Amino acid sequence: DSAIADSETAGELPVLPTDRHTGCPFDPPAALTALSDRPVRRLRYADGHVGRLVTGHAAARAVLADPRFSSRYELLHLPMPMEGAPGELPPAPVGDILGLDAPEHTRYRRLLAGRFTVRRMRQLTGRIERFTADCLDAMEQAGTTADLVEAFARPVPTLVICELLGVPYADRGRFLGLVEVIFDQAADAGARDEAYAGLLRYVGELVLAKRAEPTDDLLSDLASPGLDASGLSDEELAGIGGLLLAAGLDTTANMLGLGVFALLADPGQQAALRADPDLAGPAAEELLRYLSVADPLLRSALEDVEVEGELIRAGETVTVSVQAANRDPRRFPDPDRLDIRRRATGHLSFGHGPHQCLGQQLARVEMTVALPALFARFPALRLAVPPGEVPLRERSSIYGVVSLPVAWGEEAGE
Ligand code: HEM
Repeated sequence: DSAIADSETAGELPVLPTDRHTGCPFDPPAALTALSDRPVRRLRYADGHVGRLVTGHAAARAVLADPRFSSRYELLHLPMPMEGAPGELPPAPVGDILGLDAPEHTRYRRLLAGRFTVRRMRQLTGRIERFTADCLDAMEQAGTTADLVEAFARPVPTLVICELLGVPYADRGRFLGLVEVIFDQAADAGARDEAYAGLLRYVGELVLAKRAEPTDDLLSDLASPGLDASGLSDEELAGIGGLLLAAGLDTTANMLGLGVFALLADPGQQAALRADPDLAGPAAEELLRYLSVADPLLRSALEDVEVEGELIRAGETVTVSVQAANRDPRRFPDPDRLDIRRRATGHLSFGHGPHQCLGQQLARVEMTVALPALFARFPALRLAVPPGEVPLRERSSIYGVVSLPVAWGEEAGE
C-alpha cells in the first residue's frame, strides 16, 4: 500500500481530532489548533488509515480547486465512524452531485447552476422576508420564550426549500412536520429514518406533479429542460430534490441557530448589528467564517500531488479543516475574534472550486434578512439558560445547536 509505505512510524503520528470544540462552543478544539502550525500534515484517522489534514487557508484552497482530488464518496476514509457508515461509504446516490467528479459532476452542475438565476433569487428574497415575519409573529403570539431552532432557525430555511421545490401550500404543514421529526434528537432512529424516507418519497411524487403541471419554481424549471434539451430522468430529479434538502436545510438552520447564539454571547457585536442595518451583510459573512458549520470537507488524492511542499500520495484521504482554514492568522488577522466589521470574504465556509456551494447567495439572503429582523423584533432577546447549557451538535458533519432556549420579555424571571 503506497499510501502507507513510508509510515512505519504511523503509530506515532498524531490522531485526527474528532471533537468539534473543547471549551468555547465557537472555537476549534485545542487539539486541532495545536496541529495548525503546519498547513498540511500527515496523521492517523480513527480507522487507522494514514491520511492528511489541511489547516492552512492557501493549502485548503489549492486542494479544493484541484481536480486531482476526488469527491467520490467510495474513495474517502471518514475522519470518524459516522452514523450508518463504519468508515466507508457507498457511491453517491443518483442526483447527489457532491459525491461526483468531472465530467459527470460538470453536467449536473451546469444544469443546476443555470436554474439558480438572479430572477429566482430576487423572487425568493421577498418570500424570505415574509416567512421571517410570519415566524416572528408566531413567536410573539405564543409567549415570551421559545426554542429558537424550532420557532425560527429551522422553519425559515425549510420554507425556502419548499419554494425551490414548489411544494404547494396545502402540503407545507406535512413537509415541516417530517423535517421536525428528522432533526428531533429525542425521536428514535427508526422514526427519523422513516420521516426521511417519507420526505424523499414526497419529493418523488412532486417531480411527477411538476412534469405534469409545471409551476414557477426551480424543480419545475429542471423538469422542463427547455432549449438545452438535456432531459433529466424522474430518478435524477428526485435525487437532486433530495440533495437540495440535504445541502440547504441543516446548513442554513445551523448558521441561523449558532449565529444567534454567537451574537447573544457577544453583546458588543450584537449592539453593533442592531445599531447599523448596513452591517447585516458583513455580519453574515463574518459569522460564516467564524462558525464554519460545514466542516470538514473530504477529498481523496487520485495521484501524487504536492501541496505547499508536502507530497500527498495517491489514495490518501485529505481532510480539509474549514474551521482551521477560516482561523488561519495568515489570511484573517486576529482570527479568533468575532468582528462583524471585518472583511471576512474569502472564507471557505461554502467550499471552493468545482463543488463550491450552489446555494450560497440564497443562504446569504436568508441570514441578512432573518438575523436583523429577529433582533429588531425582540430588543430584549437573551438566552434562557446559561451559555454552557445550550446543547451542541458535537459530532455531526454540520455543527450547530440542538436547541436554543431564548426569552424576550422585559421583566426578569418569566
Ligand atoms: C455545496 C456549505 C446552503 C446547495 C456546499 C459545500 C459547502 C456548502 C461547504 C461544498 C462541499 C464540498 O466541497 O465538498 C453550505 C453552507 C450553507 C449552505 C454553510 C448555509 C449557510 C445551501 C443552500 C443550498 C445549498 C441554501 C440550496 C438550496 C448546495 C449544493 C451543493 C452545495 C447543491 C453541491 C454543489 C456541488 O457539488 O457542485 N455547500 N451550503 N447549500 N450546496 Fe451549500
